[in-house]
Amino acid sequence: MLSIALTKGRVEEQVIPLFERCGIDCEPLRNKKRKLVINLGDNLKVILVKGGDVLTYLNNGVVDIGIVGSDILDEQQNTGYELLDLQTGRCQFILASLAGYDMNEPRRHTIGTKYPNITKRYFAGRGKDVEIIKIEGSVELAPLIGLADAIVDITETGTTLRENNLQIFDKLSPISTRLVANPLALKQKRSEIFDLVDRLKAARQSDDFK
Ligand code: PRP
Repeated sequence: MLSIALTKGRVEEQVIPLFERCGIDCEPLRNKKRKLVINLGDNLKVILVKGGDVLTYLNNGVVDIGIVGSDILDEQQNTGYELLDLQTGRCQFILASLAGYDMNEPRRHTIGTKYPNITKRYFAGRGKDVEIIKIEGSVELAPLIGLADAIVDITETGTTLRENNLQIFDKLSPISTRLVANPLALKQKRSEIFDLVDRLKAARQSDDFK
């Protein structure tokens, strides 16, 4: 039995069809209601967690593998355990603000974000010292109500930016969903883990999963 910490929400929704292409019956996951621990057949136990907690479960040895966005791995500066890019959950980091924003205006800019480490690294790489305001969600509000000059956030469809009259001023890096493994599990359950990785690779590459 392999235990998986799966990021609930968008990551979960996009990973379910990939699992199904591997022949894993995901009905218990699709019909989970408020359940947080879900068995898929006799071989997989899924626990549903917030993305930021996946590595906590992994590092404490209570799950064997995790499924999490690379945005979170980058923010937590922990990409060491990565086994596979599932190529789902594709989106990207962007710098956005209202029209007329000038990131080169010589003053200390204020940036709202859920990703302070990524933001710090991005501006440090450009020799800019910015004030970072950590926001937990609805980051797009910050420039609209004057909390920040601009935001560093993720965009998938672009709808949230568009509907809030925000423009992209720079594209940082692409993001996708990754499969990570606990190093001990990788030793103890190597064949089970690599069997799943191989099936996911095959499902990911099949023509009708694009
Ligand atoms: C994310 C992100 C943007 C939005 C972008 O937020 O922070 O707000 O999705 O997606 P789009 O380009 O498809 O519109 P999420 O929905 O995770 O919720 P949050 O605002 O509570 O963080």
